[in-house]
Amino acid sequence: MNFSPAGDPAKVAIITGAAQGIGRRTSELLAEAGFGLALIDRQSCAHVAPSADREELQGDLTDEMFLARCVDAVQQRWGRADVLVNNAGISLIAPAETVDASAFRRVLEVNLVAPFLLAKGFGALMLRQGEGSIINIASIAGLTGIADRSAYNASKHGLIGLTRTLAAEWGGHGVRVNAVCPGWVKTEMDHVDQASAAYVDADIIERVPMGRFASPDDIAHAVLFLAEPRQSGFINGHTLTVDGGWTADGSWQSLRLMHR
Ligand SMILES: NC(=O)c1ccc[n+]([C@@H]2O[C@H](COP(=O)([O-])OP(=O)(O)OC[C@H]3O[C@@H](n4cnc5c(N)ncnc54)[C@H](O)[C@@H]3O)[C@@H](O)[C@H]2O)c1
Repeated sequence: MNFSPAGDPAKVAIITGAAQGIGRRTSELLAEAGFGLALIDRQSCAHVAPSADREELQGDLTDEMFLARCVDAVQQRWGRADVLVNNAGISLIAPAETVDASAFRRVLEVNLVAPFLLAKGFGALMLRQGEGSIINIASIAGLTGIADRSAYNASKHGLIGLTRTLAAEWGGHGVRVNAVCPGWVKTEMDHVDQASAAYVDADIIERVPMGRFASPDDIAHAVLFLAEPRQSGFINGHTLTVDGGWTADGSWQSLRLMHR
């Protein structure tokens, strides 16, 4: 499937955290669907969809000047923005009573303030076009409390609130804003979190009704669905959980495992 039939202007997707994990797989799928790509990350994205019509924007999302440069670069190269995937995020696993203000603020800057500023910058282009789709990668940690993740969970709850608010403000101008809420996904983030002895694979696998981690591909397909107006053109302000049933399941552990 190619999103842009011959003769149509190229459609452009901007993806943050594109160098690895969910962002990388999402970028690859969007490239296959025919989007031009603006790949934003503090790491190099040289290995991501190398044959696509693409631009790499390397820098830190907490740098407001860098964010403004990203919007300018897309405007100059393509003159439009069709999809923004606010995917980059950082985790912080620590008991709340040990988290200091600067660590808490850093998580909010990356996971919430940067998505807001990018939505504002690229949203202005979308509002002028009268169409666009913004997809915020939140988490099931944005829907429920999980111990030892005060800053992360607050940022993801905030991102869902931002999603709903922008959907209300911009839906009337053809700009849809939705969130995807993954459960635990096998990526570098999971690897780093497990290395800090926060949990092991079995903790997650036993908790998920479908008995496995999500893959980056599971999440990327949900993003592609929300990106594509022919698939999701009247979906706005929604939080799409991709968690194998985690948040739906109120069973106790032995009952859940009895149904495997
Ligand atoms: N992995 C999971 O289990 C899981 C579960 C739910 C939600 N999520 C969310 O999905 C998103 C992607 O997660 P992932 O597992 O692919 O993460 P990851 O750590 O594997 O990749 C994150 C990417 O974002 C980039 N990045 C981080 N901070 C940045 C900054 N300040 N400036 C520029 N780039 C920055 C990193 O360089 C990296 O390439 C995150 O928002 C995360 O919170 C992940």
